[in-house]
Amino acid sequence: MRVLGIETSCDETSAAVVEGDGARGTLRSLVILSQDVHRVFGGVVPEIASRAHLTAIAPVTRQALDDAGIRRDEIDAVAVTNAPGLVGALLVGVSFAKSLAASLGVPLVGVHHMEGHLFATELEDADAAPPFTALLVSGGHTLLLDVPAWGRYQLLGATRDDAAGEAFDKTAKLLGLPYPGGRHIEAMAATATGAIPRFARPMLHGGQRPGDSDYYEFSFSGLKTAILHSVRAAEARGTLDAERAAIARGFQDALIETLAEKSVRAAVVFGRNRIVLGGGVACNRALVARVAARATEAIGADARVFAPGPRLATDNAAMIARAGLFRLARGETAGPDLNAYATMSLPGLVPGGAAA
Ligand code: KG4
Ligand code: ZN
Repeated sequence: MRVLGIETSCDETSAAVVEGDGARGTLRSLVILSQDVHRVFGGVVPEIASRAHLTAIAPVTRQALDDAGIRRDEIDAVAVTNAPGLVGALLVGVSFAKSLAASLGVPLVGVHHMEGHLFATELEDADAAPPFTALLVSGGHTLLLDVPAWGRYQLLGATRDDAAGEAFDKTAKLLGLPYPGGRHIEAMAATATGAIPRFARPMLHGGQRPGDSDYYEFSFSGLKTAILHSVRAAEARGTLDAERAAIARGFQDALIETLAEKSVRAAVVFGRNRIVLGGGVACNRALVARVAARATEAIGADARVFAPGPRLATDNAAMIARAGLFRLARGETAGPDLNAYATMSLPGLVPGGAAA
């Protein structure tokens, strides 16, 4: 089966072709057009995002088909992100996918954006398959899940306020770095020398036990406030320029420690030796290295940590096509009434998680 994937949930217009059978998918092509315009505004402007998707969606799709070396009529299904995300942006992809599927007479599949992120790494490494612990960290979401099988997800923890990527972006802004700030923080943190300020590890303390509501949950707004105070104090001293890299490093260390520790806690409690990361923040090499180090300490030498390469970590249609292939193989297709939703819980959530 050949699935065309379409992704327009935020500020990337993307199309991809994935071929496979539900159990395994192979990437044939991937085109991602990032809307650079939002940088000027320091964040995504929904109205501008929708208009840019509208202009880009047809040529981006054509390019994905060309790159895969196939014609439109060689597609077996169209998979599209229909939730969660910016509704106006999602609608562009959903409307386009609907009309394309209808005109070709092939099935349409609605895909949950976060389920897409769960599948991304498997396109690069067949071993990134269930059972595993998943940590999805993007600009809009922070989710810790146990994944016993594809399509069965136990939500263990989410953020109570800011998402991990949002914390990176807000900290970057405080430090005068461009939007989106994650990779700028990572690069700046790597240059830090001298004393690194130690910020409290958000929602992390030794007294937490499995079953406590905060055992797996996250909260990053307090860390952001601590950074704000630290930046103001450095400004008052007139030393911000000299301290910027150390503050970036202190922030990143604190946030990473919480993400790594909670992921490893989940893997230990559920007896998983695989941890799969996804979402834009999974591009952060320091995060991946820390999760791997903690996993080896806590689980042993057979612990494995997977993270997608940058193109599949950030928003892309390949992961949507891959998740769509899985849903298609289960006969889960959508009708012409498929709609776009700003929020939607992950399909296949199994009860039992602290936050489920
Ligand atoms: O998954 P994604 O492309 O879009 C959303 O669905 O939100 O994630 C974007 C987020 C942004 O907050 C960005 O700052 C962050 O991923 N990010 C990073 C890095 N690269 C991107 N955060 C930390 N370190 C990075 N290297
Ligand atoms: Zn995303």
